[in-house]
Amino acid sequence: MKIVLLGYMGSGKSTIAKALALEMGVNAKDLDKQIEAHVGLSIPEIFEQKGELFFRKKEHQVLEEEIKSDANVVLALGGGTPCYSNNMDLISSQENVRSIYLKASISSLTKRVLSDSYERPLITGIKAEDIPEFIGKHLFERMPFYERADFIVSVDDKSVQQVVSEIRNLL
Ligand code: S3P
Repeated sequence: MKIVLLGYMGSGKSTIAKALALEMGVNAKDLDKQIEAHVGLSIPEIFEQKGELFFRKKEHQVLEEEIKSDANVVLALGGGTPCYSNNMDLISSQENVRSIYLKASISSLTKRVLSDSYERPLITGIKAEDIPEFIGKHLFERMPFYERADFIVSVDDKSVQQVVSEIRNLL
């Protein structure tokens, strides 16, 4: 089985993917890392040098390869992955895939994206004081895609272990 973790930037997808995969005895994968390896550039460099459209096409291509492979894996998506190229249709169409939306509040997402905004091209250039409004608007637009996940798990004020246990109980 494949477990796909989705959610906004800073919701903890990569951290939870690693911890969950360890418990389940499978590999954790990170879609952004896979894209970086394919292209040979970091995510900020891809946005800067090739543009977001190039990134979204690559994201879809790498997702399709991952989703259609036989490997049992916990895969952390990028924050925007569910919202482009019919990616949620692709994810939902696979019988062996379970998707989980890691849901976080605007205030906890704000804290987390501010601590590593240099890694996030969509946030660079936005003033720290404007980040809550930016996230609120962005989240509102993305919510319909995120809510197509098979399960929704709230992550606010929970430890990694708590979130991992909740996910395991759902599967
Ligand atoms: C993006 C989120 C990032 C990365 C890219 C675009 C987005 O992933 O894929 O910068 O559109 O929300 P994380 O959610 O892992 O930061």
